[in-house]
Amino acid sequence: MSEFDVYRLPEDHETIRAAVREVCDARVAPNAAEADETGEFPKASYDALRSSDFHAPHIPVEYGGAGADALATAIVIEEVARACGSSSLIPAVNKLGTMPLLIAASEELKQKYLPKVASGEAMFSYCLSEPEAGSDAVSMTTRAVRDGDHWVLNGVKRWITNAGVSEFYTVFAVTDPAKRSKGISAFVVEKSDAGVSFGAPEKKLGIKGSPTREVYFDNVRIPADRMIGEEGTGFATAMKTLDHTRVTIAAQALGIAQGALDFAKGYVKERKQFGKPVAEFQGVQFMLADMGMKLEAARQLTYVAAGKSERGDDDLTYFGAAAKCFASDAAMEITTDAVQLLGGYGYTRDYPVERMMRDAKITQIYEGTNQVQRVVMARQLLKD
Ligand code: CAA
Repeated sequence: MSEFDVYRLPEDHETIRAAVREVCDARVAPNAAEADETGEFPKASYDALRSSDFHAPHIPVEYGGAGADALATAIVIEEVARACGSSSLIPAVNKLGTMPLLIAASEELKQKYLPKVASGEAMFSYCLSEPEAGSDAVSMTTRAVRDGDHWVLNGVKRWITNAGVSEFYTVFAVTDPAKRSKGISAFVVEKSDAGVSFGAPEKKLGIKGSPTREVYFDNVRIPADRMIGEEGTGFATAMKTLDHTRVTIAAQALGIAQGALDFAKGYVKERKQFGKPVAEFQGVQFMLADMGMKLEAARQLTYVAAGKSERGDDDLTYFGAAAKCFASDAAMEITTDAVQLLGGYGYTRDYPVERMMRDAKITQIYEGTNQVQRVVMARQLLKD
């Protein structure tokens, strides 16, 4: 490494960013307002991402994927989110759903499912939360009971991103209630398994083009070899997965914020009041400067966390939580300020910044609320 490469993004990653941006500007951004307005899954955006191999870039080459590292995957998600928050959940949730397999599954299970996600034939969702078990994930009640060579699942999962659109689901269920977190196991469930059904789409504030539904398991009988890893390791797998994928939510937050900042920058140069573009007023300039500064700080933390995710560093738990928390709080502030910079126009659906503000909000909530992220960080800081 030469001195010129110290602490900067590798050239390959900049190339990936340019390639994703080109696809998203041309074929994803044009669908964003409609997906938000109609609440329909943006199939055209999925097709655009699939045809350019950005729909699940993290799948390793040996399973037919693009083999993007964690930083490249974060950049893909960031760039898709800059164009459309809902569409960025395509690569993000494909990573969330399949990460338990990559971390813990048998080679047979990986070979069976990952190539279908890599090809874009299927998407993969992650079923952890339940109506009464959100932040307190260990308190889940979805039950899996062994029956010969099968497991039988019963229960309800809630807030499942891309539910109904995804073909496959990682489902966490209690296999031994006496053992609390050590009595939870992970399984692959298919949409076509008898007894799987879905609730009505949730009526959400944002990311409206990404379906969120309950998933019901009514005596769903699956072969025992669909268990991911050993019995009783499901909760640890769920947490290890989130260590990696909180980085991708941070990336999503960055992208949404960048989209809002870019739009606001263009607007203030055009909009004239008191005889000059509002960009010439220092009050507006200071707002833009703060937005840019917060965004860049969030980006640096996110990329460092992505490097740790790729290497599997010991302090990933801390950095994943910190990146997700910091970037999503920054995105909420930046998108709110973008609406402010557009004044009354920003408050209307004629401009994209109000959508970005609504989309940013969820990044402070899902994959662990920012209060949970602070619990995770504090525990890491205080351990030993
Ligand atoms: N890696 C490995 N193991 C871990 C771990 C990690 N990061 N975090 C916890 N564990 C292990 C612990 O070591 C512990 O095992 P031991 O008893 O052997 O030590 C076990 O798991 C239980 O851990 P805790 O005692 O810390 O459990 P807790 O009940 O106190 O909960 C929590 C901890 C951090 C609050 C956790 O429940 C949590 O993260 N909650 C938030 C859940 C969440 O993020 N949900 C998001 C749903 S997905 C989503 O949102 C998707 C979407 O739509 C896009």
